[in-house]
Formats: sequence, structure tokens, C-alpha cells
Amino acid sequence: MKKHVQQLGVAIGVIGLSFASTSIVAEPVDDKLIIDDEIEMISRAKAPEGHPLPEVISGWHYRTPETRAIETDTFQNPGMLGVEQGEEIWNTVEGSEGKSCASCHDDAATSMKGVGAAYPKWDEDSSKPINIEGRINKCRVENMGAEAYKFDKGGQKPLTAYIKHQSLGMPVELDLSQGEMQSWWDQGKETYYKRTGQLNLSCASCHEQNNGKYIRADHLSQGNVNGFPTYRLKQNKLISLHNRFRGCIRDTRAEFPAAFSDTLMGLEVYTTWRGTGLSVETPAVRQ
Ligand code: HEC
Ligand code: HEC
Repeated sequence: MKKHVQQLGVAIGVIGLSFASTSIVAEPVDDKLIIDDEIEMISRAKAPEGHPLPEVISGWHYRTPETRAIETDTFQNPGMLGVEQGEEIWNTVEGSEGKSCASCHDDAATSMKGVGAAYPKWDEDSSKPINIEGRINKCRVENMGAEAYKFDKGGQKPLTAYIKHQSLGMPVELDLSQGEMQSWWDQGKETYYKRTGQLNLSCASCHEQNNGKYIRADHLSQGNVNGFPTYRLKQNKLISLHNRFRGCIRDTRAEFPAAFSDTLMGLEVYTTWRGTGLSVETPAVRQ
């Protein structure tokens, strides 16, 4: 097969990191994401007003046929083991109040349906946006008398995956009119476009200007967040959104902010908005 590799002007010579587009597979693949032959996902959507791109596209379209196939079948999707683990935790009593999540919220299929599609939300108590991980911790501490999970520890990833999975297929939509959500969006946008690190790259350098191109062996997507926590085949586990943020920032050789810091919460608000209209895919499967 003839592979014509074209180097773009953005190559960073010293370090050797460059974006290439191959004429064979540079475009996101034209295919439909249907889970278990039943749930048709919205994996391409008209971008919301003010978005720099005309269309928002799920990262699923940028992956290989093998990786894409795994996500279409919940029996094959290894991320579903995390979801099942989350269900167990949901029903497990913990803490001084002798309660489980289910004691108050009953069946998650009903009580949590749609919740994952609308987070982060504004939290009056902390005067900040709160994500699902934060909301779980809030209930653990205030309603169960249990300890907050540390980042990526305990039941945080499986429980987050379980809650988001209850919104599988539902389109992402944030309410930016709540509290000061808009100013967190603004701050997240600033972070998104700010060039950092030795490589002087921003999120937009890769996921906006060069999506569809290759960077090393990776087909660059728009960096949408609708599938998190996602199952990464390379790492053989569920990866949380803030872990992914930190990994992407680390790759530019910059100092990376703490998980759930104001910087990354702003980024979560902004990147979630960028994926407005895409179905929640949790747990998505990625390379
Ligand atoms: C003692 C009762 C109680 C327990 C136990 C409890 N919660 Fe909650 N939870 C609440 C209340 C009250 C709210 C606030 C409801 C509201 O804001 O509409 C809430 C809100 C939430 C929300 C936000 C829902 C939304 O619509 O935004 C999530 C997510 C959540 N809880 C998850 C959990 C999880 C996960 C657990 C177990 C780790 C848990 N909760 C345990 C009482 C409880
Ligand atoms: C040097 C290029 C580069 C930069 C800069 C970069 N990323 Fe990424 N990012 C990647 C690559 C490569 C992947 C894996 C392939 C893909 O999905 O694009 C990825 C994946 C992602 C994903 C997962 C997408 C999915 O479908 O699961 C998210 C979310 C993401 N990046 C967000 C960000 C954010 C936010 C920033 C800025 C803080 C950023 N990235 C900066 C290269 C980059």
C-alpha cells in the first residue's frame, strides 16, 4: 500500500514531534456507532453556537475498526466490568450512617438517568462547578458518614462510570446559566488555548487545528470528553477524565495541575460544552 505522508508546517524540529496526515485515513471514519444493535449513538452533531468547528465528532470515529467494534458490543467492552463493579458499590453500605447509595437513590437506572449528560453542574455550597466524582464524594461525606475517595482511588472510577452509563446515548447538554458556570467556561477556554510547556502547544494545537492528522501513531481526535471514564486498551483499565487531561498536558512537557483543581474543573466545563449534542458513551473504548 502506498502511504503518502505529508509533514505539516507545525513540526517541532528539536524534539521531533510532528503532525502528519496520511492520504489514506486522515478523515474520521464514516460509520455509525450502535451499541448492541439497539442504541444508536449520536457520534456526530452540529456544533453549538460559538464553537470553532462546524461539527463535533466523537473520538470513536478516529479509532481503528477493531477498537470501534469493541465499543459496539457491551459483552466485549472491558469497561463494562468497571460499570458492574460500580453497581456493586452502589448497593454496598458504608460509613457511620449505615447507608448505601441505593438507600436514598434506589434504582440508578431511574434516579441517575440523564444525570451524567448534564454534569458538571453548579454547586451552591462550594460556589464552584461540581463533577460526578465530586458529587459522589459529597454524598459519601455528607450523607453516608464515609470518607471522600482520593483521586482515581477506591470506588471513584467504577462508580463514576456506573452513573454516567445510566445516560448512555443521551446527548450532552450543560446548563451554563447556573450560578457562575459561564465564568468557569471562560476560564476553561483560556486554558484550552494557552500554549504551555517546552513544546509550546495548547489543547487546540492538537485537537482543533490538527484533528484528523497523525501524531506519532495516534490519529488525533477533537478530544471530546463524552466517553469518560474511558477504557484504554493500551493501559488495560478505565481512565478518568482528569487523568487524561493531566496526561495530555504532560505530553507537552508542561507542569500539570492537580486533579479537580480549579484549572482542570474549568477545563472540564469547557471541554464538556465542546462536545454538546454528542451521546454519552461511557464507558467508551479507546486505544
Ligand atoms: C442519605 C441519602 C443519600 C445517600 C446515602 C446518597 N445520596 Fe446522593 N444525594 C442525596 C441528596 C439529598 C441529593 C441532592 C438531591 C438534589 O440535589 O436534587 C443527592 C444527589 C446526588 C447526585 C446528583 C444528582 C443530580 O441530579 O444532580 C448524585 C450523582 C448522587 N447523589 C450520587 C450518590 C452516590 C454515588 C451515593 C453513594 C456513594 C449517594 N449519592 C448517596 C442523598 C443521598
Ligand atoms: C501534543 C498533542 C496533544 C495536546 C497538546 C493535547 N492532546 Fe489530548 N490527546 C492527544 C492524543 C494523541 C490523544 C489520543 C488520540 C485522540 O483521541 O485524539 C488525545 C486524547 C485526548 C482526549 C480523549 C478523547 C477521547 O475520545 O477519548 C481528551 C479528552 C483530550 N485529549 C483532551 C485534551 C485537552 C483538554 C488538552 C489540553 C490540556 C489536550 N488534550 C492536549 C494529543 C494531545
